[in-house]
Amino acid sequence: MIGAVLRQLASRAVMDAGGSESSASLPRPEVGGGGRLADNAICEAGTRIELEQRCQQTLERSWTVGERDGVSFAYTRPSPDRYRWQWYWDSCFAAIAWRHFDPARSRAELETLLAAARPDGFIGHTIFWDHRLDGARVLFYNVIDRDDPMTSTIQPPALAFAWRAAVADPSLEPRIVAHHEALAAQRDLERDGLLWILQPDESGLDASPQFDPIWRERAQGLPGFVELVRRNRERGFRIDAVLADGDPVVCEVQTNVLHGLSQLALGLPSITPALVARLYDESSGLFWPAVKPEVKERIPLTWAALAPLALPDLPEEIGHGLIKYLLDARRFWTAVAPPAVSLQERAFSLKEHFGGLRRYWRGPTWVNSAWLVWRGMVRLGYEHEAAALARAITETVVREGLREFYDPHDGRGMGAQEFAWSALALELLDPINASLGIRA
Ligand code: GLC
Repeated sequence: MIGAVLRQLASRAVMDAGGSESSASLPRPEVGGGGRLADNAICEAGTRIELEQRCQQTLERSWTVGERDGVSFAYTRPSPDRYRWQWYWDSCFAAIAWRHFDPARSRAELETLLAAARPDGFIGHTIFWDHRLDGARVLFYNVIDRDDPMTSTIQPPALAFAWRAAVADPSLEPRIVAHHEALAAQRDLERDGLLWILQPDESGLDASPQFDPIWRERAQGLPGFVELVRRNRERGFRIDAVLADGDPVVCEVQTNVLHGLSQLALGLPSITPALVARLYDESSGLFWPAVKPEVKERIPLTWAALAPLALPDLPEEIGHGLIKYLLDARRFWTAVAPPAVSLQERAFSLKEHFGGLRRYWRGPTWVNSAWLVWRGMVRLGYEHEAAALARAITETVVREGLREFYDPHDGRGMGAQEFAWSALALELLDPINASLGIRA
């Protein structure tokens, strides 16, 4: 039913794609067992309660507390069995989800990231709290030494944003200020406010096809990735050394969107103008990564091109242009939107494994991406479509449980079980949450 409604909305949007469709002209979605929900209500009370229960259960089960070398930690495992360490951006998302149940845990979760910080403010992508890196993992984890307490690479810097969303004003917490300053000092290669990454996994979007023409046979989830890690290990994971050797470095869109949200959360000048100047392509109306050395091959269209929708100060005409892509059923507007890759791309795939290796972000829908584009839809006034997206996500999570990602067509749960950041579905229950974490 929901699928049919979304498809109806989508085909209408496609029909109108060249014109000036207004959300008011779109049909109201009809939902649930023949009944109609009031206006833009996201779901029935029962579904809401079930979603809250499922999210709380997963967060509680994945919560872990302990001590390493005299330092206390408390965080949410991204998935209790598959991902047991602390992952940086997973923790930011989990902290936002915890605010619905226990704000003290939001704070503890982010305090644990801060407890891992080096004296210069650097916080790694994965922090090995309760047990050290073991076995063959050392080959493809970004550590210099097997005994390192955390990786020497980053994930999208969402900490200040998550702190404002779930805890307090991050500009009043010097350790958060120092963390974001350290990132800018190390990764803002052109001094325009944008950050660069040295490996695909630093974006959190590991094997996204946008990286295929960049890292090629060394992309994540290919056997050559081990060689990429080895080369970067030799360079101490220092971006200036990678650049000097002529290996790829990337100014990735979604990474900079989360960085931009954090800058705004800190009350610092917006990086949105720099993002538009450097990564927005007027002819396509989309954002693309910048790469050094330049890549001639076409970069496949992924959801990251739409991620700037999450920026509250994105120029409106650019935002409306991105929404047209999002609402295009040939590309992103599936029954459970948005897929990680445009349906039109040859690289689009729902396979989880390629030649026995996991390759993620090549097709299925992730709840954090849905949440980020949903924020833009609400802000730009697409209330009916935003409600339809919210409904599809919440019903999918209730039906399938908190999975790592979902089939964008039928919502089948895929990847890890009890995946904590899928609790971000809670945010979609109320359009007022679309401006969470933004300074008034
Ligand atoms: C996968 C995801 C990454 C996430 C990690 C832990 O590697 O691609 O974004 O942080 O799992 O959940």
